[in-house]
Amino acid sequence: MTPLLELDRVSAGYGAAPVLTDLSLSLPAGGAMALLGRNGMGKTTTVRALAGQTPWRTGSIRFDGRELADLPPHRLAPLGIAVVPEGRRIFPTLTVRENLTAFAPRRTKGPRWTPEQVWALFPELAARADAAGAHLSGGEQQMLAIGRALVTGPRLLILDEATEGLAPPLRARVWELLADLRAGGVGLVVIDTSLAEIRRLCPEVTILVRGAAAWRGPVADLDAATAERLLGLPGRP
Ligand SMILES: Nc1ncnc2c1ncn2[C@@H]1O[C@H](COP(=O)(O)OP(=O)(O)O)[C@@H](O)[C@H]1O
Ligand SMILES: [Mg+2]
Repeated sequence: MTPLLELDRVSAGYGAAPVLTDLSLSLPAGGAMALLGRNGMGKTTTVRALAGQTPWRTGSIRFDGRELADLPPHRLAPLGIAVVPEGRRIFPTLTVRENLTAFAPRRTKGPRWTPEQVWALFPELAARADAAGAHLSGGEQQMLAIGRALVTGPRLLILDEATEGLAPPLRARVWELLADLRAGGVGLVVIDTSLAEIRRLCPEVTILVRGAAAWRGPVADLDAATAERLLGLPGRP
């Protein structure tokens, strides 16, 4: 079967020196993979390379067998790729409602969420529907970034530290949401620091060290000593 997402020897960077070197990844349809690593190891650069947002890259990135090399970022959503980016990237002058719907593509490939479904998931956000993006708290911005990805109807959802800075009850709701999406067949690439939640959600793990895959395999094989060494995290479930 054609993988949903395939990176084949991808190198990418911002200046002359590469940040990513020869990174290969493969995610089957409906699969869930964690992309882990300490700060500065290249996780966000991987997401940016995929979204055509690094100044240069080599190698191949295919979505559902289609080369993404020359697609600008706005062409990803119609294909079924949604990103919850690091730093949220909420449009400050648009309202919450406008942020949610203004850029949703007309046609989508995956199950598409309505704004009402997003409000039901995040009632806190519904209460702020007419507030400007600039006036949202960090947690509200995070909910909006997730909602904005859901309304595009993704087949592949990429989350770059989407639970960072959220209060624990909200964090738990997001992990529950991801489990539901996965059960519904949405492919997931999850960047997060909560190894316990990653262990529950993602069967496959890739750990980046200085822009290369230093460890990859089934999450069950990721022992505490390796997690501690490569992530600086206690690896116990
Ligand atoms: N816009 C940029 N310009 C130059 N270097 C960058 C830029 N963004 C990230 N880097 C560098 O690339 C490396 C990887 O960063 P990043 O992909 O953000 O790591 P992570 O997401 O794993 O924390 C770091 O050394 C970082 O300093
Ligand atoms: Mg990052």
